[in-house]
Amino acid sequence: MSRRRRAVGVERFEPAPLDAPLLEVEDLHTHFRTGRGVARAVDGVSFSLERGRTLGVVGESGSGKTVLARSIMGLLPKSNVERTGSIKFEGREVIGATPDDLRELWGSQISMVFQDPMTSLNPVMKIGKQITEMLLQHLDISKDYARELALSLLESVGIPEADRRLKEYPHQMSGGMRQRIMIAIAIACGPKLLFADEPTTALDVTVQAQILDLLQAQQRERFMAMILVTHDLGVVAGRTDEIAVMYAGRVVEKAPTKVLFSELRHPYTEALLRSIPKLGAPSHTRLAAIGGRPPDIVNPPAGCKFSPRCPYARERCLEEEPPLIDTATPGHEFRCWIPVGTPENREALEANRAAGAPSALAVVGEGNGMGTAAAPSAPTPHTRSGSIDTKGGA
Ligand SMILES: Nc1ncnc2c1ncn2[C@@H]1O[C@H](COP(=O)(O)OP(=O)(O)OP(=O)(O)O)[C@@H](O)[C@H]1O
Ligand code: SF4
Ligand SMILES: [Mg+2]
Repeated sequence: MSRRRRAVGVERFEPAPLDAPLLEVEDLHTHFRTGRGVARAVDGVSFSLERGRTLGVVGESGSGKTVLARSIMGLLPKSNVERTGSIKFEGREVIGATPDDLRELWGSQISMVFQDPMTSLNPVMKIGKQITEMLLQHLDISKDYARELALSLLESVGIPEADRRLKEYPHQMSGGMRQRIMIAIAIACGPKLLFADEPTTALDVTVQAQILDLLQAQQRERFMAMILVTHDLGVVAGRTDEIAVMYAGRVVEKAPTKVLFSELRHPYTEALLRSIPKLGAPSHTRLAAIGGRPPDIVNPPAGCKFSPRCPYARERCLEEEPPLIDTATPGHEFRCWIPVGTPENREALEANRAAGAPSALAVVGEGNGMGTAAAPSAPTPHTRSGSIDTKGGA
């Protein structure tokens, strides 16, 4: 009997009611024991994702994006790691699931496109075999039908001469082609949730745009939910329904995509947005780097973890960590005592400038940097031709 038909997997992950969220993550912590102490890579993350929707997870290197994705997938190292909280997929708890149950989920229900296809594809196995093996593992179909499916999958991800390509090895293909193959493998069994972890950073800008367009098209066509992980707000701007901004293992701001760009409140989100080239900026304009270094997650600063880099930080910020605060806009929440766009925020910037704080002096432009949180410029369209729209419901 195939693994797919084993009673345990089927019982555990049989479909939940369609109106239940596809994924519910509640107070997720993933901590690693290291020689220096405990690294809080994911530190109390909660969110939920409906079927067919897209969530962007954005943050600098080391903010915990990949560990978050791997924690949900159950793809963590075997030792020196502790994962607590709750992850429900279609209403069923995933934390504590057996390896057999997890194998039921991977590929057929939840799938992942990694950053570098060369490390994920088997270099000594032909592409066709890699795809058909995946199909045969999860679907009760014949080898001939698996090959037919593999052909149509390659066509659907825009690979010409699919018949010939099936007989090739990964090294015979360009980076963009390999990433298309990875997408074909990831969507092969019709997963309900697709993680795309920096799926385009290894590619040049034009190919990046094509791959992101392809992912978006497949996501819509198949009504998959997608979690798009990136360090670049520009990448998620027009392609997600919602964005979660991560800093030091925590979500510091979360909002529907359009709201995040028009009503951002967290200074770190503002700094990320500043670091993107603006539409209409003269060529060779220098990008604003985010000053300071990302925090040490083993020995994080007291109070707000962004405080050493924040132009608005005041005494309270150094002492007390802000909780997640809801705004009047549904789905918009942030962690900050002195949010962007408030009079207190402007006053804090002035006071810090007067005191000569480097993070405050580095903020150029009028008043509080953004002026108000309203209407920051859209990111430059470096992910596809034409302008990036920041509409939700992408
Ligand atoms: N196995 C591990 N043991 C100890 N620390 C780890 C382990 N894996 C990740 N970390 C730490 O967890 C933190 C978050 O890492 P993660 O890979 O999630 O960052 P990221 O946001 O994906 O960054 P990038 O944009 O560079 O991919 C980092 O400080 C990293 O060093
Ligand atoms: S204003 Fe204070 S609480 Fe808000 S991000 Fe800056 S340091 Fe943190
Ligand atoms: Mg990563």
